This record gives sequence, C-alpha cells and structure tokens, in this order.
Amino acid sequence: MLSPFQIYIDELHAQISKFDSGKLADYIPELSKADPNWFGICVVTLDGVAYSSGDTEQPFTIQSISKPFIYGAALSDRGRNFVSRRIGVEPSGDAFNSISLNPQTGAPLNPMINAGAIASTSMVEGDDAEAQWRQIERVIASFTGRQTILDETVYRSESKTGFRNRAIAWMLKNFGIIDGDPMASLENYFRQCSLQVTFQDLAYMAATLANHGVHPLTGATALPAEHVERVLSVMATCGMYDYAGSWLYEVGMPAKSGVGGGIIAVVPGRFGIGIFSPLLDEKGNSVRGIETCKQISRDFGLHVFAHTSNPSSVLSRFYTAADAPSRRQPPLELRLYLQQQAHRIKYLCLNGFIAIDSAEYIVRQMRAMAIDTHSFILDMHKVTGITISAARLLNVTRISFNEQDISVVCTRSHGRAAVIDPLTKVLQKGDRGFLRFTDNDLAVEWCENRLVSMVNNTEIATRALADSTLFRGISIPLLQQLESIAVQQTFAVGEQILAAGDMGDRRVFFIESGCVSVVIPTEGGNYQRIAALGPGMEFGEMALLGQATRSASVYADSVVQCRIIDAADLDSIANLLPELKIVMLQNLAGDLAARLRGANQWIAALA
Ligand code: DON
Repeated sequence: MLSPFQIYIDELHAQISKFDSGKLADYIPELSKADPNWFGICVVTLDGVAYSSGDTEQPFTIQSISKPFIYGAALSDRGRNFVSRRIGVEPSGDAFNSISLNPQTGAPLNPMINAGAIASTSMVEGDDAEAQWRQIERVIASFTGRQTILDETVYRSESKTGFRNRAIAWMLKNFGIIDGDPMASLENYFRQCSLQVTFQDLAYMAATLANHGVHPLTGATALPAEHVERVLSVMATCGMYDYAGSWLYEVGMPAKSGVGGGIIAVVPGRFGIGIFSPLLDEKGNSVRGIETCKQISRDFGLHVFAHTSNPSSVLSRFYTAADAPSRRQPPLELRLYLQQQAHRIKYLCLNGFIAIDSAEYIVRQMRAMAIDTHSFILDMHKVTGITISAARLLNVTRISFNEQDISVVCTRSHGRAAVIDPLTKVLQKGDRGFLRFTDNDLAVEWCENRLVSMVNNTEIATRALADSTLFRGISIPLLQQLESIAVQQTFAVGEQILAAGDMGDRRVFFIESGCVSVVIPTEGGNYQRIAALGPGMEFGEMALLGQATRSASVYADSVVQCRIIDAADLDSIANLLPELKIVMLQNLAGDLAARLRGANQWIAALA
C-alpha cells in the first residue's frame, strides 16, 4: 500500500501542475530552452526517506541555490570574522542582480544577492582558482550525497553574457572584497551556478541543513552546526530576495530559489524540501515552487514560528531494570538482591533532536528521580542530534551525579557523529565522558555489577586476595606470604587505573571491592568495553607472562579497593617455590582458555 504521505505529495503535484503562469529565464540564453511543463516535488525526512513526485530524473542547473552552500563553505573555510567583514547579513529588498553594496565599505549587503555570492565564491579554500573550483565541487557533493556534473553549455552561455556580474566582480575588487583576480572568481561562480542537479538532490541538500549539517543518508558532516544556523538565517531573511518578506510571512521556512527553476525550503530538525519548475515570476522565483511550499507549510503546520516542539517529547519512554534486567544469570544470592534493588537502575529513552530546552527537561526529570536511583541509562537510539549547549548540560549533570555515586551511561549512540561529537567536544582534559555501550543489556549488566559491588553485605561486595582465581589451590601459609607483600590502594569513581599502551608497569591488581571496566580505545576518542570485573577478579595479570605494553585501559566504575602485587615480586617468590608458579600459570592458562572460548563464540555469532 502506498504511503499516505506519498499519496499527499502525488496529489499536491497534480494540483499544482495546473498552475501555468510565469515564464522561462531568458537573460541566460541556454535557460530559455527548458520545458515549461517540467515539475517535481521531493520531501526528505531527517533519516533520509525521500517522497518524490514528478520528473524525477530531469537535471537542471542549480543557479542561485548554490549560494547558501558556498556561503557556508566560506564561513567554514575562512571563519566567521573574515567573512563578516566582507559580506553583510542584511536583506537588501532588491532584486538578485542588484549592485547592493554598503556605501562605506563596499561590502555586499548579504550573501544571497549575486554580489555577496560572488564574494563568497572567492573566499572558499584553495591556493588558486582551480583548487577553489575543486573545493566548490566537494562542498556541493557533500550536500547532494553524490558527484554532480557541470553543464558546460549553460556555463558558456552565462560566461558569455554575464556582463552585469562582471561589473559587480570588478566593483568587489575595487573595494577590496575580492583579493585575487575577480574574473577567476567570477568564472568559478558561473560554473558553480551551472552544476546539474535534480529536485531530489535539492531535497537532500535541504535535509542536510535541516539535520544540523549532517547528510541524512551518508552521515557525513557537510557543514559544522555552528555555521548551519548562520546559513539558515540569511536564507530566511534574504533567500527569496525582494520576495523574502512575503515568503517568511506566507511560508515561514528558510529557503533559496534559482533561475534554473529550483527552490529549496528547510524545516529545521524535521524536513528538507526540493522543488523544480522552470516557470518563473517577475522576481525570478519558481511560480509552482512557491505555491507548493505555501501549501505544504499550511497543510503540515511547518511555519517556523508555528513550530513549538514540546521539550517533554524528548523523553519517549521510562522504565527500570526491574522491568528489563540484564540477560546474564547471576548466582542466587545476587539474583535475589538484584530483584530487590533493580528499580534503582533507570532507563530514559530519548527521542529526536536534543536542544537546550529538551536537555533541561531531561535533567529536571533525572533530578526528580535521583533520590532512589543508583544508575541512569540514557538510551540514545532515537536521538538525531545534540547541540553543544545541551551536551554541556548533560555532561555537567553526569559529573554531578557521579559525585553522588549515581552513574549516568549512554547506550546505542555508536557511529552517529551528530550525537557523539557534541558529547565529546564538551569534555575537559582527562574526563572520559559518558561510558557508552552498544546495547542496553551490556549497560544494565554493568549497572548491576556496580550495584552489587556497592552493597553493604560483605558476603557479596568484598572478596579477599585468597578468593582470586589466580591463587586457586595455593596453600594458606603461601597466601599469607602473598598478603604480606600486597599493597592496598583505593580508586575513586571514574579514575583511570591503567592506560592502554603503557610500558614497563608489571603490577597485578586484585579487586577486593567495587567494579571496573576494561576498555580498548577506538577511533575518535571513543571506547569499546571488553569486560566488567568485580570483587575476586584480577586485571593486569598478563604482566606475569613478561614485560609488554598494557593492551587495554581500566577505569574504576565505582569506588574500587584493590590489593596490588608486582609481578617481579611474584617471580622472586615463585623462583623459591616452583609450586606457586605452576599453580598460578595453570590458573592463568585456564582463565585465558575460557576467554578464548568466549571470544570464539562471539566470532561465530558475529560471523
Ligand atoms: O548570476 C546569475 O544571475 C545566475 N547565475 C543566478 C541568478 C539566480 O539564480 C537568481 N535566483 N533566483
């Protein structure tokens, strides 16, 4: 059955097709050859689903729709201050080809009119015009999600007749807005406008802006979020030129039109819209494009000022480990204890884009529950992105709860830059940030371990050195001798105990109470947890097999008390008492064999 949303788009296309006013652009001769009946509508969701209706394969030149994307590239390549000194952000109220320059500085009033766009093109990264052209192609491709091609015929047609733009380019050179050869920048501008796209490409470009600069299908960051809001601002106030006021009043979406017949409209955090119909009104905007956007805005209530996302919608579900304990089977005395305490481990399923208002709501709910909470699990599976301010608030809240011995961990955020990057960017030096798990079961098991390790019942929470798996079968007198050389040390919540790559440290740690995570660093400053260890277990024991770099990092997940023995001291005793070495190595071999069997099972499962 066809999606009702698709049916809506098809019906809208049929309805708007009846509009036949307007005329083809002819000041660029090649554009006058378009078919006036060409018409296509595409809406793309933030997870990349495209609803299209019309001439889906018909390419056309992007023209002025390229301007906001190249303006974003200039901001990203040269920095906001450099660009703002040379291009204003004020609506001119004039036509797109007007020579609207600041009378004092000569700076174009905004980056959407030709003068501002030509200036933006001159500022993209590149040592010469050819390198800049390659950067322009890269930028456009990052938004369409594919390589676009240059329509040479349109390019030559515009380069040959673009006298007004040549005058504008020389004016910009005269006022020091363009540093290099203005004609080289202008040729790049003409080529940029002559790149071929489809209306679906436009919708993906718009959806990338709606998705905070992250392409909804490729997941690549086309433009850092801090510049996205600047691009959308000038699109909202200047994107439709001397129709901008009526557009914001009637439609209420940041938009950009092009004389090739395209229009993009952006619904931040929700949709990207791309439309193609070459019949233009007297202001150079697509007649059917405007009508389509008016209708969609009205029908779906998408006017940017009508949109009030209720912050509470960010918290889609709440439940506890009493509803969903970990899948492992703990020993009976643990199971009974966990059943009594499981309600203190709380899952918060988060949803959508987390801005500061949503983050404030989440934090408020966590604080209201904190009195009887041991751990929070923030399930990020349905989160599409987080602003830096929201990430900062969540991270400060995590640290504050840690100080109250309440852990806050994240799950199911792996591989999603729009979620991970903001949470990583706000970390202070030495702060590893949220412990992140690939799934909820791993997370709740970790929380259960921590809960058990903190319980007052010494029968469960603490283990002596003698309980260590490494010393199984060793005589009491020898154990007492080992106790006498073991050093006791306590580690705070979150403290790093061992660092992967460290060389020369041969200490072996025996956990008496508390629990630790053994993690291996992965790309981008992330971690993959490979084990959670509790009382009676040991780590660093590979040092018994000789000098080697540490293969993993170890962090304290609760207050952890350990007994520590240096492997060199164990070697000395073992040289005097070979029985000790044999027993320890037998125990170690048995432990490693069990781990190898477990790893093989994982590999078999993954295969
Ligand atoms: O510079 C020009 O005139 C064209 N390459 C682009 C103008 C344009 O698309 C105006 N937008 N509606």
